[in-house]
Amino acid sequence: MNINSENLNWAKETLTRVEKKMEKVSARSAQKIPYTTVNGVHDDKSGEKEIGWWTNGFWGGLMWQLYKLTGKELYRQNAELTEKKLDADLMDYDKLDHDNGFKWLPTSVANYRLTGNRESRNRALLAAGNLSGRFNPVGFIRAWNNWDDMDRTGMAIIDCMMNLPLLYWASEELRDPRFYHVAVCHANTAKRYFVRGDGSVNHIVQIDPQNGEMICSIGGQGYGVGSSWTRGQSWGLYGFTLSYLHTKDVSYLETAERIANYFIANIPENGLIPVDFRQPADVDYIDSTAAAIASCGLIELAKLTEGRQSGIYLNAALKMLKAIERDSFSWNEDEDMLLTRCTAAYHDKNHEFSIIYGDYYFVEALMKLTGDELFIW
Ligand code: GLY
Repeated sequence: MNINSENLNWAKETLTRVEKKMEKVSARSAQKIPYTTVNGVHDDKSGEKEIGWWTNGFWGGLMWQLYKLTGKELYRQNAELTEKKLDADLMDYDKLDHDNGFKWLPTSVANYRLTGNRESRNRALLAAGNLSGRFNPVGFIRAWNNWDDMDRTGMAIIDCMMNLPLLYWASEELRDPRFYHVAVCHANTAKRYFVRGDGSVNHIVQIDPQNGEMICSIGGQGYGVGSSWTRGQSWGLYGFTLSYLHTKDVSYLETAERIANYFIANIPENGLIPVDFRQPADVDYIDSTAAAIASCGLIELAKLTEGRQSGIYLNAALKMLKAIERDSFSWNEDEDMLLTRCTAAYHDKNHEFSIIYGDYYFVEALMKLTGDELFIW
């Protein structure tokens, strides 16, 4: 990847300013596991009822990245506290699902990689064991549990591509290919059932849990069936890139590049990413989490490719990251959030608010550009 000095300086200066703000935010939010902000103040998902919320690993991940950058103890303490609080979730079978990777890669695996902590290794292996236990041998990792009358036995989602690195990590750690084969089997199914001819992806696919045949796709968090939920595109883009990094199977790299090329072709002139690339023309909901996640995937692709193609990926990432910093960001040090215009799902009542994984991936992307990243996936 060939980043010029102007862009590198932008990334370095932005990261320095972010860290200066985050030192204050981290002191204020030290006892919390934030998801969003209310009037600029972090909420807290660490209570008994919400400890299983799927985003609860990202605050710890953000803290580990900033600890790696600065060595400041506060970040490490916050990350360790988050990880310990997550034990309540790890011990509650019904609350565990495909999102184990999102919870324990940025916390326990990050901790283990940085410090060699054996308790963290144990947590991450338990989470990986549970994730691989969700594998249906007809070819997919089941997404959610049944918490109401809806039968989710055959549901798989594109987001799960980002959880596979927990399985790749466990295989390497235990020198046991079982986890690896589960991950690869799911990735192959995802390649077949989720990625469409034009490089866009489905969010949810309903699979027959008896024979592995695809029954239908479901609109999920996007506009509708056949639409193009941008965060789902980002999970696919980054997720297939990561599967390539762990397996060296070029079909995953080709898949990631197809999604990336589709994504780039749809980036609006102003660099801000809509919630769904196929949302109605008179709707302008933005989701900056999709932009931050896609940027991480594109920077990895820029490292894996050469010449003009590498430049296209890097420039697209820079365009989105600069647009976030310009139009979707709070530099106010009295406010707890970084990104401001994030959206969880198209059909939700609220749009364009702060979401912690937007902050996490924005910082991860900057640290990829500056070469400071702790690689956790
Ligand atoms: N993994 C759920 C989401 O992206 O909202």
